[in-house]
Amino acid sequence: MEKRLSGQKALVTGANSGIGAAVAQRLAAEGADVVINWLFNEDATREVAEKINKAGGGKAIGIKADVSNEEQVDAMFKQMFKEFGTIDILVNNAGIEIHNLLENMSKAEWDKVIGVNLTGNFLCSRAAVRQFLKNENRPHSRSRGKIVNISSVHQVIMWAGFSSYCATKAGINLFAQSVAQEYAEKKIRINSVAPGAIKTPINQNVWSDPKGMADLMTKMPYGRMGEVEDVAAAVAFLSSDEADYITGTTLYVDGGMCLYPEFRFGG
Ligand code: BGC
Repeated sequence: MEKRLSGQKALVTGANSGIGAAVAQRLAAEGADVVINWLFNEDATREVAEKINKAGGGKAIGIKADVSNEEQVDAMFKQMFKEFGTIDILVNNAGIEIHNLLENMSKAEWDKVIGVNLTGNFLCSRAAVRQFLKNENRPHSRSRGKIVNISSVHQVIMWAGFSSYCATKAGINLFAQSVAQEYAEKKIRINSVAPGAIKTPINQNVWSDPKGMADLMTKMPYGRMGEVEDVAAAVAFLSSDEADYITGTTLYVDGGMCLYPEFRFGG
C-alpha cells in the first residue's frame, strides 16, 4: 500500500471497533503511528493494536479516555505527546446513538449523546489544534495538522427517533466549518466524512434482520451496505497531502443515500 502518511502521528477516537478500528488500521498501513482511543473493551483495543503492530506499518498504542470528559481528554493528549512527540492527524470518530422520541427522551440521554458526539469533538479538536499550532516544519506533511470528523448522512437527513444524534451531526458540520475558517491561514485543515449505512455494531439490529435489510436497500441506490474500509479510504485521503487544498468540506461515503432515492420512481 502507498505510504502517504509516513512519519505522521495520528489519534483516532473510539478506535477499538467499527469504523474507528478500520481507520486506525488504514492510517497505520499508510505509515502513521496511531493512538487507539478507547473507553470500553480493553481486549478489543489490544487486538486492534496487535494487528497494527504485526502488520509492519506505523505502530499503535491504546489510550483510555472518555472523550466527553475534559480532564481525561487533556490527559490522553499529554500521554500521546509523551509517547509520539506531537499530533498531525486527529480523527473524531467516537459516537453513540440512543433511540427515543422527543416526548420520552430524558435529559440524561440527551446529555450523553451531545457529550460524546459533540462535546467530545470540541474537546479533542481543541487539544489537537493547540498542538498543531506548535507544529513547525513537519517534514512529512504540507499542512500543520489535519482533523477528519466522522459525521453522518444524518448531518443533512432528518431521522425520526434519533433527533439528538442528528443534532450532534449537524452541529459537527457547522462547528467544523467555522473552525476550518479560523485556522486555514495557519495551514490547519478540517474536514468531515459522512458515512451512510456502514455495516458495524451500531446498526447490527438493522442488517441482521432480513426485513430491516430489505428496507435499507430501498434507501441505497448503490445496492449494498458500506464497508468500514470504504470510510477508512476516504479518511486516509483527506488526511494526506493529496487533499492539501481541501478544507471545511464534507465527503459523503453513502452509496447514494443522500440522492433522494425515492425519486428514482414517480415524482
Ligand atoms: C448511523 C447508522 C445508520 C446510518 C444510515 C449512521 O449515521 O450510525 O446507525 O444505519 O447512519 O441511516
